Amino acid sequence: MPANNRIVLSSDHAAIAFRQTLAAHIAALGWEVVDIGPTTPESTHYPIHGRAAAQRVASGDCRFGIILCGTGQGIMMAANKVSGIRCGVCHDTFSARMIRQHNDANMLSLGVRVIGEGLALDVVDAFLNAEFEGGRHGTRVDMIEPQDA
Ligand code: RB5
Repeated sequence: MPANNRIVLSSDHAAIAFRQTLAAHIAALGWEVVDIGPTTPESTHYPIHGRAAAQRVASGDCRFGIILCGTGQGIMMAANKVSGIRCGVCHDTFSARMIRQHNDANMLSLGVRVIGEGLALDVVDAFLNAEFEGGRHGTRVDMIEPQDA
């Protein structure tokens, strides 16, 4: 467990119940969950929530972020617009492990209309249990940051 053991969770309206299941699972693993909502089921806009979660990670307040929407795609795109964020959509455990080991991902995005809860929890475990390998992967990760064209 890293010194900063805080994980921020957020979603759009499509994933509120799913997010609560995830929060309980992550807390049971010993992480401190920072759930920034939303908590009511009204239709909302995933970029707001992806950006808000990403800012918690980029600022250093939280070590990781896990975000959810219908597909996982829109909220991932919004999160990746925040400097310092490396977020991937993963619906299998191999990808979830690899985005930590090779891409040093600091956020994971899930699509609740794509993946069931059981597999989603395994994907989260794979993400949280993997470590960045550094070395040549660090050189490549450094090249991801926004650069002038
Ligand atoms: C909301 O209907 C849906 O568009 C959203 O949850 C997400 O799938 C967008 O990427």
